Amino acid sequence: MSRFLVLYSTVDGHTAHICQRLQQFLERDGHAATLADLGENTGIDLAPFDRVAVGASIRYGKHRPYVAQFMRERRGTLEAKRCAFFSVNIVARKPQKNTPQTNPYMKKFLKQIGWHPSQLAVFAGKLDYPRYTFWDRQIIRFIMLLTQGPTDPAAVVEYTDWQQVEAFARALGDA
Ligand SMILES: Cc1cc2nc3c(=O)[nH]c(=O)nc-3n(C[C@H](O)[C@H](O)[C@H](O)COP(=O)(O)O)c2cc1C
Repeated sequence: MSRFLVLYSTVDGHTAHICQRLQQFLERDGHAATLADLGENTGIDLAPFDRVAVGASIRYGKHRPYVAQFMRERRGTLEAKRCAFFSVNIVARKPQKNTPQTNPYMKKFLKQIGWHPSQLAVFAGKLDYPRYTFWDRQIIRFIMLLTQGPTDPAAVVEYTDWQQVEAFARALGDA
């Protein structure tokens, strides 16, 4: 049994939702799992935890800057505890861009932080046009038009493969 800290960086809540599912899967498998918003807890004391998992979403090509900063500044502790990192983005709905080796945002992020967390994953996110501001909706619809995605302004599509999330939780627990 391990004590996990699951940290999320989210804008519209979907990465938090994925982290809640991870927490549930980990607890079901007999582990303890604490969930926290990384943006509000960048100074969190990692001592009470055996393992740390960090999930962050992409917005206009980037994770929030505090994510890479946290991973760089806490590298020593995170490496010692074995850290997992996953990125959530809409590009990952494409099968050829949904692994740590093929997803452009993951590749960029790993270069940015300068080290490789021991477990990595890329999850496809959620498209939720009604939730977006007018301009965000127009921009994302245009990007979707260029990449053969849905453009109906009423579309809400969850691309996340929950079996992949469950398999990731199991891999975290087994490692
Ligand atoms: C304003 C905006 C910009 C986005 N930019 C990108 C992007 O550049 N690349 C991408 O793959 N996904 C992009 N997405 C999709 C998000 O990564 C996806 O919706 C994800 O599920 C959001 O997770 P969150 O709710 O945890 O923030 C964008 C979404 C929004 C609303």
